[in-house]
Amino acid sequence: MKALFALYTSTLLTIVSGHGYLTIPSSRTRLGFELTPQAGLDTCPECSILEPVSAWPDLTAAQVSRSGPCGYNARVSIDYNQPSPSGLWGTEPVATYTAGSVIEVQWCVDANGDHGGMFTYGICTDQALIDLFLTPGYIPTESEKQAAEDCFLEGELSCLDVGGQECAYNPDCAPGEPCYRNDWFTCKKFQTEDGSVRGCQGVDGAGLGSCETTIAGGYTVTKRVRIPEYVSEHTLLRFRWNSFQTAQVYLGCADIRIVGDGSEGGSTTTSSATTSTSTSTTTSATSTCTATASAIAVTFDAKVTTSYGENVYIVGSSVQLGSWDTDSAVALSASKYTSTNPLWTVTLQIPVGTTFEYKYIKKESDGSVIWESDPNRSYTVSTGCAGATATQSDVWR
Ligand SMILES: *[C@@H]1O[C@H](CO)[C@@H](O)[C@H](O)[C@H]1NC(C)=O
Repeated sequence: MKALFALYTSTLLTIVSGHGYLTIPSSRTRLGFELTPQAGLDTCPECSILEPVSAWPDLTAAQVSRSGPCGYNARVSIDYNQPSPSGLWGTEPVATYTAGSVIEVQWCVDANGDHGGMFTYGICTDQALIDLFLTPGYIPTESEKQAAEDCFLEGELSCLDVGGQECAYNPDCAPGEPCYRNDWFTCKKFQTEDGSVRGCQGVDGAGLGSCETTIAGGYTVTKRVRIPEYVSEHTLLRFRWNSFQTAQVYLGCADIRIVGDGSEGGSTTTSSATTSTSTSTTTSATSTCTATASAIAVTFDAKVTTSYGENVYIVGSSVQLGSWDTDSAVALSASKYTSTNPLWTVTLQIPVGTTFEYKYIKKESDGSVIWESDPNRSYTVSTGCAGATATQSDVWR
Protein backbone atom coordinates (compact mmCIF):
# COMPACT_ATOMS: atom_id res chain seq x y z
CA MET A 1 0.00 0.00 0.00
CA LYS A 2 2.80 2.41 0.94
CA ALA A 3 4.65 1.86 -2.33
CA LEU A 4 1.49 2.30 -4.31
CA PHE A 5 0.74 5.47 -2.41
CA ALA A 6 4.20 6.92 -3.09
CA LEU A 7 3.87 6.11 -6.76
CA TYR A 8 0.44 7.64 -6.95
CA THR A 9 1.50 10.74 -5.07
CA SER A 10 4.35 11.43 -7.42
CA THR A 11 1.99 11.01 -10.36
CA LEU A 12 -0.34 13.49 -8.77
CA LEU A 13 2.43 15.98 -8.26
CA THR A 14 3.19 16.05 -11.94
CA ILE A 15 -0.42 16.53 -12.93
CA VAL A 16 -1.14 18.93 -10.03
CA SER A 17 -4.20 17.59 -8.39
CA GLY A 18 -6.85 19.00 -6.08
CA HIS A 19 -8.23 17.07 -3.16
CA GLY A 20 -11.38 17.18 -1.08
CA TYR A 21 -14.40 15.23 0.13
CA LEU A 22 -17.77 15.62 1.86
CA THR A 23 -17.54 15.30 5.65
CA ILE A 24 -20.90 16.50 7.08
CA PRO A 25 -23.12 14.64 6.79
CA SER A 26 -20.68 11.73 6.77
CA SER A 27 -20.23 10.78 3.14
CA ARG A 28 -19.76 7.21 2.02
CA THR A 29 -16.21 8.25 1.26
CA ARG A 30 -15.66 9.47 4.79
CA LEU A 31 -17.06 6.22 6.19
CA GLY A 32 -14.84 4.25 3.84
CA PHE A 33 -11.91 6.11 5.32
CA GLU A 34 -12.86 6.14 9.01
CA LEU A 35 -15.06 3.14 9.67
CA THR A 36 -13.00 0.42 8.10
CA PRO A 37 -12.40 -2.54 10.38
CA GLN A 38 -9.35 -3.35 8.31
CA ALA A 39 -7.25 -0.18 8.24
CA GLY A 40 -6.73 1.30 4.83
CA LEU A 41 -9.83 0.31 2.86
CA ASP A 42 -9.84 3.83 1.49
CA THR A 43 -6.43 5.26 2.22
CA CYS A 44 -7.09 8.66 0.66
CA PRO A 45 -10.69 9.89 0.88
CA GLU A 46 -9.72 13.20 -0.72
CA CYS A 47 -8.32 11.37 -3.76
CA SER A 48 -11.58 10.37 -5.47
CA ILE A 49 -11.08 12.18 -8.75
CA LEU A 50 -12.97 12.31 -12.01
CA GLU A 51 -10.54 13.35 -14.74
CA PRO A 52 -9.73 14.61 -17.20
CA VAL A 53 -12.69 16.90 -17.60
CA SER A 54 -13.31 20.45 -18.61
CA ALA A 55 -15.91 21.41 -16.08
CA TRP A 56 -15.02 24.87 -14.82
CA PRO A 57 -17.03 26.99 -14.65
CA ASP A 58 -19.96 24.97 -15.90
CA LEU A 59 -20.92 22.52 -13.17
CA THR A 60 -23.04 20.53 -15.55
CA ALA A 61 -20.48 20.12 -18.32
CA ALA A 62 -18.53 17.04 -17.30
CA GLN A 63 -20.15 13.65 -17.72
CA VAL A 64 -19.73 11.63 -14.56
CA SER A 65 -19.06 8.29 -16.31
CA ARG A 66 -17.73 5.61 -13.96
CA SER A 67 -17.30 8.06 -11.08
CA GLY A 68 -21.05 8.50 -10.89
CA PRO A 69 -22.58 11.04 -8.51
CA CYS A 70 -21.10 9.26 -5.47
CA GLY A 71 -17.54 8.94 -6.69
CA TYR A 72 -15.16 6.17 -7.67
CA ASN A 73 -11.76 6.03 -6.01
CA ALA A 74 -9.67 4.39 -8.72
CA ARG A 75 -6.68 4.30 -6.45
CA VAL A 76 -8.33 1.76 -4.14
CA SER A 77 -10.99 0.53 -6.61
CA ILE A 78 -13.96 1.52 -4.47
CA ASP A 79 -17.18 2.42 -6.22
CA TYR A 80 -19.17 4.55 -3.79
CA ASN A 81 -22.24 4.36 -6.03
CA GLN A 82 -23.22 1.11 -4.35
CA PRO A 83 -23.67 0.23 -0.66
CA SER A 84 -20.56 -1.25 0.90
CA PRO A 85 -20.56 -5.04 0.47
CA SER A 86 -19.73 -5.34 4.17
CA GLY A 87 -22.42 -2.88 5.25
CA LEU A 88 -20.05 -0.05 6.19
CA TRP A 89 -22.06 2.53 4.24
CA GLY A 90 -25.19 2.78 2.18
CA THR A 91 -27.35 0.39 4.19
CA GLU A 92 -28.82 3.03 6.48
CA PRO A 93 -28.96 6.82 6.68
CA VAL A 94 -26.28 8.57 8.71
CA ALA A 95 -28.43 11.63 9.38
CA THR A 96 -32.10 12.56 9.58
CA TYR A 97 -33.24 15.96 8.39
CA THR A 98 -36.57 17.72 8.24
CA ALA A 99 -38.06 18.70 4.88
CA GLY A 100 -37.69 22.44 4.33
CA SER A 101 -35.18 22.92 7.15
CA VAL A 102 -31.80 24.61 6.88
CA ILE A 103 -28.89 22.32 7.63
CA GLU A 104 -25.16 22.68 7.89
CA VAL A 105 -23.01 20.82 5.41
CA GLN A 106 -19.26 20.62 5.25
CA TRP A 107 -16.49 19.38 3.07
CA CYS A 108 -12.79 19.12 3.65
CA VAL A 109 -10.16 20.51 1.31
CA ASP A 110 -6.55 19.41 1.53
CA ALA A 111 -4.07 22.22 2.20
CA ASN A 112 -1.82 20.96 -0.55
CA GLY A 113 -4.52 20.07 -3.00
CA ASP A 114 -6.74 23.11 -3.12
CA HIS A 115 -7.27 24.13 -6.69
CA GLY A 116 -10.15 26.53 -6.37
CA GLY A 117 -13.34 26.50 -8.33
CA MET A 118 -16.90 26.00 -7.22
CA PHE A 119 -18.90 23.38 -5.44
CA THR A 120 -22.52 22.43 -5.21
CA TYR A 121 -24.82 20.21 -3.17
CA GLY A 122 -27.89 18.48 -4.53
CA ILE A 123 -30.79 16.18 -3.71
CA CYS A 124 -32.48 14.10 -6.39
CA THR A 125 -36.17 13.55 -5.74
CA ASP A 126 -36.55 10.66 -8.20
CA GLN A 127 -36.62 7.93 -5.56
CA ALA A 128 -36.69 5.06 -8.06
CA LEU A 129 -33.46 6.33 -9.57
CA ILE A 130 -31.80 6.83 -6.18
CA ASP A 131 -32.91 3.37 -5.06
CA LEU A 132 -30.49 1.96 -7.63
CA PHE A 133 -27.68 3.47 -5.55
CA LEU A 134 -29.08 1.95 -2.36
CA THR A 135 -29.39 -1.61 -3.58
CA PRO A 136 -26.82 -3.93 -2.04
CA GLY A 137 -24.84 -5.80 -4.66
CA TYR A 138 -25.93 -3.59 -7.54
CA ILE A 139 -23.58 -1.22 -9.35
CA PRO A 140 -25.54 1.31 -11.40
CA THR A 141 -24.66 1.48 -15.09
CA GLU A 142 -22.92 4.56 -16.47
CA SER A 143 -26.16 5.82 -17.98
CA GLU A 144 -27.93 5.36 -14.64
CA LYS A 145 -25.07 7.21 -12.96
CA GLN A 146 -25.41 10.06 -15.46
CA ALA A 147 -29.20 10.17 -15.08
CA ALA A 148 -28.80 10.44 -11.32
CA GLU A 149 -26.15 13.13 -11.71
CA ASP A 150 -28.47 15.15 -13.97
CA CYS A 151 -31.20 14.72 -11.35
CA PHE A 152 -28.87 15.95 -8.58
CA LEU A 153 -27.99 19.02 -10.65
CA GLU A 154 -31.68 19.67 -11.20
CA GLY A 155 -32.13 19.43 -7.43
CA GLU A 156 -29.26 21.77 -6.67
CA LEU A 157 -29.43 23.24 -3.15
CA SER A 158 -28.88 26.90 -3.87
CA CYS A 159 -26.73 28.89 -1.48
CA LEU A 160 -29.00 31.89 -2.05
CA ASP A 161 -31.98 29.94 -0.65
CA VAL A 162 -30.58 30.42 2.82
CA GLY A 163 -30.90 33.91 4.24
CA GLY A 164 -28.08 35.59 6.10
CA GLN A 165 -25.44 33.42 4.55
CA GLU A 166 -22.41 34.74 2.73
CA CYS A 167 -22.40 32.96 -0.60
CA ALA A 168 -18.79 33.62 -1.39
CA TYR A 169 -18.38 30.27 -3.08
CA ASN A 170 -21.36 28.84 -4.83
CA PRO A 171 -22.69 27.79 -8.18
CA ASP A 172 -25.56 30.29 -8.21
CA CYS A 173 -23.37 33.07 -9.50
CA ALA A 174 -22.73 34.28 -13.02
CA PRO A 175 -19.42 35.56 -14.42
CA GLY A 176 -18.74 39.11 -13.22
CA GLU A 177 -20.57 38.73 -9.92
CA PRO A 178 -18.34 38.92 -6.87
CA CYS A 179 -19.53 35.49 -5.75
CA TYR A 180 -18.31 33.89 -8.95
CA ARG A 181 -15.20 32.21 -7.68
CA ASN A 182 -12.10 30.82 -9.18
CA ASP A 183 -9.86 31.26 -6.20
CA TRP A 184 -8.63 29.02 -3.44
CA PHE A 185 -10.65 27.82 -0.49
CA THR A 186 -7.66 27.70 1.80
CA CYS A 187 -5.83 30.85 0.82
CA LYS A 188 -8.32 33.18 -0.84
CA LYS A 189 -5.42 33.64 -3.16
CA PHE A 190 -6.85 35.80 -5.89
CA GLN A 191 -9.42 37.90 -4.11
CA THR A 192 -7.82 39.25 -0.98
CA GLU A 193 -8.49 43.00 -0.69
CA ASP A 194 -4.95 43.58 0.47
CA GLY A 195 -2.79 42.16 -2.28
CA SER A 196 -0.04 41.43 0.19
CA VAL A 197 -2.10 38.93 2.18
CA ARG A 198 -1.31 35.54 0.77
CA GLY A 199 -1.32 33.32 3.82
CA CYS A 200 -3.65 30.36 4.01
CA GLN A 201 -6.55 31.09 6.33
CA GLY A 202 -9.22 28.58 5.43
CA VAL A 203 -12.69 29.79 4.50
CA ASP A 204 -14.15 28.78 7.87
CA GLY A 205 -11.31 30.42 9.75
CA ALA A 206 -10.58 26.98 11.17
CA GLY A 207 -7.01 25.90 11.47
CA LEU A 208 -5.06 23.40 9.43
CA GLY A 209 -6.18 19.93 10.46
CA SER A 210 -9.75 21.02 11.26
CA CYS A 211 -10.71 18.01 9.15
CA GLU A 212 -8.74 14.97 8.20
CA THR A 213 -6.96 14.39 4.92
CA THR A 214 -4.05 12.07 4.27
CA ILE A 215 -1.79 14.40 2.32
CA ALA A 216 -1.17 17.77 3.95
CA GLY A 217 -4.02 18.20 6.43
CA GLY A 218 -7.41 19.69 5.71
CA TYR A 219 -9.48 22.84 6.11
CA THR A 220 -13.22 22.71 6.62
CA VAL A 221 -15.52 24.49 4.18
CA THR A 222 -18.94 24.88 5.80
CA LYS A 223 -22.19 26.05 4.23
CA ARG A 224 -25.86 25.98 5.02
CA VAL A 225 -28.35 24.59 2.53
CA ARG A 226 -32.10 24.11 2.60
CA ILE A 227 -33.51 20.59 2.43
CA PRO A 228 -36.26 20.43 -0.22
CA GLU A 229 -39.91 19.73 0.61
CA TYR A 230 -39.42 16.05 0.00
CA VAL A 231 -39.74 13.07 2.29
CA SER A 232 -37.70 9.90 1.97
CA GLU A 233 -36.78 7.04 4.26
CA HIS A 234 -33.42 6.82 2.60
CA THR A 235 -31.97 9.05 -0.05
CA LEU A 236 -28.67 10.72 -0.93
CA LEU A 237 -27.17 14.17 -0.49
CA ARG A 238 -24.66 14.72 -3.24
CA PHE A 239 -21.55 16.95 -3.17
CA ARG A 240 -19.67 18.02 -6.28
CA TRP A 241 -16.57 20.18 -6.55
CA ASN A 242 -15.38 21.49 -9.90
CA SER A 243 -11.73 22.27 -9.59
CA PHE A 244 -10.64 25.49 -11.32
CA GLN A 245 -6.95 24.94 -11.71
CA THR A 246 -7.02 21.32 -12.73
CA ALA A 247 -9.30 19.35 -15.04
CA GLN A 248 -10.91 17.49 -12.18
CA VAL A 249 -14.25 16.99 -10.50
CA TYR A 250 -14.79 15.53 -7.04
CA LEU A 251 -18.01 13.70 -6.27
CA GLY A 252 -19.45 12.21 -3.12
CA CYS A 253 -22.73 11.20 -1.48
CA ALA A 254 -24.06 10.85 2.03
CA ASP A 255 -26.96 8.57 2.96
CA ILE A 256 -29.70 10.62 4.62
CA ARG A 257 -33.33 10.42 5.67
CA ILE A 258 -35.77 13.30 5.21
CA VAL A 259 -38.85 13.44 7.41
CA GLY A 260 -41.96 15.60 7.15
CA ASP A 261 -42.06 18.85 9.08
CA GLY A 262 -45.04 18.06 11.31
CA SER A 263 -47.33 20.44 9.46
CA GLU A 264 -47.99 17.54 7.13
CA GLY A 265 -49.60 15.72 10.02
CA GLY A 266 -46.92 13.30 10.96
CA SER A 267 -43.21 13.24 11.49
CA THR A 268 -42.65 9.66 12.43
CA THR A 269 -40.96 7.38 9.99
CA THR A 270 -39.78 3.85 10.26
CA SER A 271 -36.68 2.69 8.54
CA SER A 272 -37.09 0.23 5.75
CA ALA A 273 -33.39 -0.55 5.77
CA THR A 274 -32.80 -4.07 4.65
CA THR A 275 -30.95 -4.86 7.86
CA SER A 276 -34.15 -3.96 9.76
CA THR A 277 -32.14 -4.07 12.95
CA SER A 278 -32.27 -0.33 13.18
CA THR A 279 -35.05 2.20 12.98
CA SER A 280 -35.06 5.90 13.52
CA THR A 281 -37.64 8.53 14.14
CA THR A 282 -37.34 12.25 14.27
CA THR A 283 -39.78 14.71 15.72
CA SER A 284 -39.03 18.16 14.52
CA ALA A 285 -39.97 21.74 14.87
CA THR A 286 -42.88 23.24 12.98
CA SER A 287 -42.31 25.07 9.71
CA THR A 288 -42.92 28.45 11.34
CA CYS A 289 -39.53 28.92 12.86
CA THR A 290 -39.08 32.01 14.99
CA ALA A 291 -35.57 31.11 16.05
CA THR A 292 -33.07 28.53 14.94
CA ALA A 293 -31.77 26.16 17.56
CA SER A 294 -28.15 26.19 18.62
CA ALA A 295 -28.68 22.80 20.23
CA ILE A 296 -31.31 20.11 19.84
CA ALA A 297 -32.65 17.61 22.36
CA VAL A 298 -31.64 14.27 20.90
CA THR A 299 -33.17 11.18 22.50
CA PHE A 300 -31.24 7.95 22.14
CA ASP A 301 -33.57 4.97 22.42
CA ALA A 302 -31.65 1.71 22.56
CA LYS A 303 -33.22 -1.71 22.71
CA VAL A 304 -30.83 -3.73 24.82
CA THR A 305 -31.86 -6.85 26.65
CA THR A 306 -30.08 -6.79 29.99
CA SER A 307 -30.05 -8.91 33.09
CA TYR A 308 -30.23 -7.66 36.66
CA GLY A 309 -27.16 -5.62 37.60
CA GLU A 310 -26.30 -4.70 34.02
CA ASN A 311 -26.55 -1.04 32.95
CA VAL A 312 -26.42 0.56 29.53
CA TYR A 313 -24.31 3.59 28.63
CA ILE A 314 -23.54 5.54 25.49
CA VAL A 315 -19.94 6.45 24.73
CA GLY A 316 -18.55 8.23 21.69
CA SER A 317 -16.13 10.54 19.99
CA SER A 318 -17.53 13.81 21.36
CA VAL A 319 -16.51 15.24 24.73
CA GLN A 320 -20.16 15.05 25.77
CA LEU A 321 -20.08 11.29 25.16
CA GLY A 322 -16.84 10.83 27.07
CA SER A 323 -14.36 10.87 24.15
CA TRP A 324 -14.55 7.05 24.02
CA ASP A 325 -13.58 6.77 27.71
CA THR A 326 -15.98 4.23 29.23
CA ASP A 327 -15.51 5.83 32.66
CA SER A 328 -17.02 9.03 31.22
CA ALA A 329 -19.83 7.31 29.29
CA VAL A 330 -23.38 8.65 29.69
CA ALA A 331 -25.87 6.40 31.48
CA LEU A 332 -29.20 5.48 29.89
CA SER A 333 -32.33 5.06 31.97
CA ALA A 334 -34.27 1.79 32.23
CA SER A 335 -37.42 3.53 33.45
CA LYS A 336 -39.32 2.41 30.32
CA TYR A 337 -37.80 -1.08 30.22
CA THR A 338 -40.19 -4.04 29.99
CA SER A 339 -39.50 -7.65 29.06
CA THR A 340 -41.27 -7.20 25.72
CA ASN A 341 -39.76 -3.75 25.05
CA PRO A 342 -36.23 -3.65 26.51
CA LEU A 343 -35.86 0.11 26.10
CA TRP A 344 -32.99 2.11 27.54
CA THR A 345 -33.16 5.84 26.90
CA VAL A 346 -31.42 9.17 27.45
CA THR A 347 -32.00 12.68 26.10
CA LEU A 348 -29.07 15.02 25.52
CA GLN A 349 -28.84 18.61 24.32
CA ILE A 350 -26.34 18.50 21.48
CA PRO A 351 -25.17 21.47 19.37
CA VAL A 352 -26.59 21.50 15.83
CA GLY A 353 -24.28 20.44 13.05
CA THR A 354 -22.31 18.22 15.40
CA THR A 355 -21.23 14.89 13.97
CA PHE A 356 -19.93 12.14 16.20
CA GLU A 357 -19.49 8.40 16.39
CA TYR A 358 -20.80 6.34 19.23
CA LYS A 359 -21.55 2.90 20.59
CA TYR A 360 -23.59 1.52 23.41
CA ILE A 361 -21.85 -0.38 26.15
CA LYS A 362 -23.10 -2.56 28.99
CA LYS A 363 -21.47 -2.20 32.37
CA GLU A 364 -21.64 -5.33 34.50
CA SER A 365 -22.09 -5.27 38.25
CA ASP A 366 -18.41 -6.20 38.64
CA GLY A 367 -17.45 -3.08 36.68
CA SER A 368 -16.46 -4.87 33.46
CA VAL A 369 -17.58 -3.43 30.14
CA ILE A 370 -19.20 -5.15 27.15
CA TRP A 371 -18.94 -3.25 23.85
CA GLU A 372 -21.32 -3.37 20.92
CA SER A 373 -19.86 -4.93 17.80
CA ASP A 374 -18.34 -2.81 14.98
CA PRO A 375 -18.76 -0.60 13.10
CA ASN A 376 -19.10 2.55 15.17
CA ARG A 377 -22.43 4.28 14.84
CA SER A 378 -22.48 7.81 13.44
CA TYR A 379 -24.88 10.67 14.11
CA THR A 380 -25.20 14.21 12.81
CA VAL A 381 -27.40 16.69 14.65
CA SER A 382 -29.49 18.47 12.05
CA THR A 383 -30.31 22.15 12.18
CA GLY A 384 -33.79 23.04 13.32
CA CYS A 385 -35.98 25.62 15.00
CA ALA A 386 -35.53 26.39 18.67
CA GLY A 387 -37.18 23.63 20.68
CA ALA A 388 -36.65 21.00 18.00
CA THR A 389 -36.14 17.43 19.12
CA ALA A 390 -34.87 14.31 17.44
CA THR A 391 -34.98 10.65 18.32
CA GLN A 392 -32.43 8.06 17.32
CA SER A 393 -33.66 4.50 17.76
CA ASP A 394 -31.08 1.75 17.84
CA VAL A 395 -30.98 -1.95 18.51
CA TRP A 396 -28.00 -3.46 20.35
CA ARG A 397 -25.66 -5.35 18.04
C1 LIG B 1 -14.48 3.28 16.53
O1 LIG B 1 -13.88 4.45 17.05
C2 LIG B 1 -12.73 4.21 17.82
C3 LIG B 1 -12.27 5.51 18.41
O2 LIG B 1 -12.05 6.48 17.40
C4 LIG B 1 -11.66 3.58 16.96
O3 LIG B 1 -10.53 3.30 17.74
C5 LIG B 1 -12.20 2.31 16.36
O4 LIG B 1 -11.27 1.78 15.47
C6 LIG B 1 -13.49 2.58 15.63
N1 LIG B 1 -14.07 1.34 15.15
C7 LIG B 1 -14.19 1.06 13.87
C8 LIG B 1 -14.78 -0.24 13.52
O5 LIG B 1 -13.83 1.84 13.01
